[in-house]
Amino acid sequence: MTYSKKVLDHYENPRNVGSFSDNEKNVGSSLVGAPSCGDVMKLQIKVNSQNNIIEDACFKTYGCGSAIASSSLITEWVKGKTLKEAKKIKNSEIAKELELPPVKIHCSILAEDAIKAAIAD
Ligand code: FES
Ligand code: FES
Repeated sequence: MTYSKKVLDHYENPRNVGSFSDNEKNVGSSLVGAPSCGDVMKLQIKVNSQNNIIEDACFKTYGCGSAIASSSLITEWVKGKTLKEAKKIKNSEIAKELELPPVKIHCSILAEDAIKAAIAD
């Protein structure tokens, strides 16, 4: 299987890797795993409580290149969006942007699950 250029770009230069410090306010966190492969994604968002806009986002992913690329991409996409807008991001949009092959679709689902769980938190 070959990775698309966009996957490789995010894999080699992941955006927003890390986590927020414990005493930071208005942070939503999630930790989701893909049952089929065991890969794990941790995603955090920092939200402006006045206007519900996501000001910052970061992730840590223990998983395949597509999972890393999907989480890297989604942290870029959610910044500047309201929680409501971010909730609407579909895994199919991630898969399309990264040109993921069918066997890697679940990696993008992991990213959608992670952002939804972080928003819920
Ligand atoms: Fe282990 Fe994806 S199956 S890295
Ligand atoms: Fe499981 Fe990518 S192989 S998240």
